[in-house]
Amino acid sequence: MSNVKARSAPDKTLSVTGDGVNIELPLMTGTVGPEVVDIRKLYAKTGMFTYDPGFTSTASCESQITYIDGEKGELLYRGYPIEQLAEKSDFMEVAYLLLKGELPTKSEKEKFISDTTYHTMVHEQLNHFYNGFRRDAHPMAVMVGVVGALAAFYHDSTDITDPRQRMIASYRMIAKMPTLAAMAYKYSVGQPFIYPRNDLSYAANFLHMMFAVPCEEYNVSPTLERAMDVIFTLHADHEQNASTSTVRLAGSSGANPFACISAGCACLWGPAHGGANEAALLMLQEIGTPDRIPEYIARAKDRNDPFRLMGFGHRVYKNYDPRATVLRKIAHDVLDELNIKDPLFEVARELEKIALEDEYFIEKKLYPNVDFYSGITLSAMGFPTSMFTVLFAIARTVGWVSQWNEMIADPVQRIGRPRQLYTGAPKRDFLPIDKR
Ligand code: CMC
Repeated sequence: MSNVKARSAPDKTLSVTGDGVNIELPLMTGTVGPEVVDIRKLYAKTGMFTYDPGFTSTASCESQITYIDGEKGELLYRGYPIEQLAEKSDFMEVAYLLLKGELPTKSEKEKFISDTTYHTMVHEQLNHFYNGFRRDAHPMAVMVGVVGALAAFYHDSTDITDPRQRMIASYRMIAKMPTLAAMAYKYSVGQPFIYPRNDLSYAANFLHMMFAVPCEEYNVSPTLERAMDVIFTLHADHEQNASTSTVRLAGSSGANPFACISAGCACLWGPAHGGANEAALLMLQEIGTPDRIPEYIARAKDRNDPFRLMGFGHRVYKNYDPRATVLRKIAHDVLDELNIKDPLFEVARELEKIALEDEYFIEKKLYPNVDFYSGITLSAMGFPTSMFTVLFAIARTVGWVSQWNEMIADPVQRIGRPRQLYTGAPKRDFLPIDKR
C-alpha cells in the first residue's frame, strides 16, 4: 500500500481575522480534491470551535481508499474509476483492492479467495439466535443483532493492535455477511438455512444460499451472478458516508470490530441512507404508468409539497451518479435474461428523461443516483424489498472493514469526540421539589 500522506502545503495558509482574532491556519493538500483547512490548533489558539452540523464541510480523517468528485460525477476506488472496475473486474478483486490498496496478482487473488471462502460458515450456535426473532422481523433488525453477536464468538479478534488479527476479523466479516444475510431471509420465509458452497463465486454462493431449497437443484444464472457481483462492486465503498463514519467512530474507542460493523448496519438501515432504493421502487409503483409522470414532477417541484423524486439528487454528486449509469445497463440485462417486461422500467426511463430536461432539476443539479435503478433490478432478481438494504450491507462491509483498518493503523487516530455549540441553560442552583 502506498504511504502517501496528506501534507500541509508549505507556504499556504488561510488567514482568519475578526473579533480580536488573527490566525493563520495551515492548508493541507491531498493527491486530488479540494484543499483542507487544518483547524486542529484553532481551539488552543482562539478558544473557539467550528460549527458544522452533518459534517458538510469537515474532513473527519485522512484516507487513501475512495475518492468522489461530485461535480464531475466521478467515483474512484484506490484511484480506479468505478465504471472500469464494474466492467472489467469482479467483487473479490475489488474487495482485495479496497482492503489492501492494490489490485491483486493472479496468485494473490487465488489466495485471497481461498482464505475468505474458508470463513463462509458461521458457528452452528448462531442458528439459535435466529430462532429468537419473530418471523416477521425486518432482516436489518436481525442483521444488527447477529453481526454484533459475532463479537461473542471471536474473542481472539479483540486485539485490534495486531494487524494480523485485524485482517482475520476483516476476512471473517466479508465471508460471513452473505451467510448471515441469506439466513435472515430463509428464516423470514420459513425455509431451512442453506449452507455456503465454497466452489461457487462470492455472488453465486449468496444467490444459492438465498434461493436454493434442499428438495431441488438450483443453478445460478450467469447473468444474475454477474449482476449481483456488479451490484456488490458498486456499493462496496463510498468514502466517509454516514454508516462508514459510524463504523470509524465506534471503532475509534477500540471497540470490537464485529460490534462496529453492527453499528454500521444500524446506521445504513435508515431511509435517508440504505433505505432509499426501496423508496424509489415504491414511488415508481405509485406512479404506475408514464402518463402520470408530469403530475409527480409537478409535485416534486412544489415547495409546499414534501414529495421528492426518490432516487434523484445526492449530497455529494452534482452530476450523474456514475453508479446509476452502470446499474441502468444491469437492469436491462437482468430484465432481458428473465424475460420480464416490467412496466416500471418504462416509467423509470421516461421519468429520468423528463426530469433531466426539466429546468428545476437542471438548475438544482438533481440527477439519478444509485438507488434509482437498483430497486427494479433487485426486485426482478427475486429479492423482497426488505432485503435491499441487507444486500447493501453485504457489499459495504468491504468498505467498512477497509476504512476501519485504515483508521486503526493511522498514527494520528484518536477517539472521535466532536464538540458542540451549547444553547441550554447556563449554570443554576438546584431547587428542592416543593420550590419548583
Ligand atoms: N426531488 C425534488 N427536489 C429535490 C430532490 C428530489 N429528489 N432532492 C433535492 N431536491 C431539492 C430540495 O428541495 C432543495 O430545494 P431548495 O433549494 O429549493 O430548498 C434542493 O434540491 C437541495 O436539496 P437538499 O435536501 O438541501 O440536498 P441534500 O444534499 O441535503 O440532500 C438527498 C440530498 C439525497 C437527501 C436529496 O437529494 C433527497 O432527498 N433525494 C431523494 C432521496 C434519495 O434518492 N436518496 C438516496 C441518496 S443516494 C444513497 C447513497 O449514496 O447512500
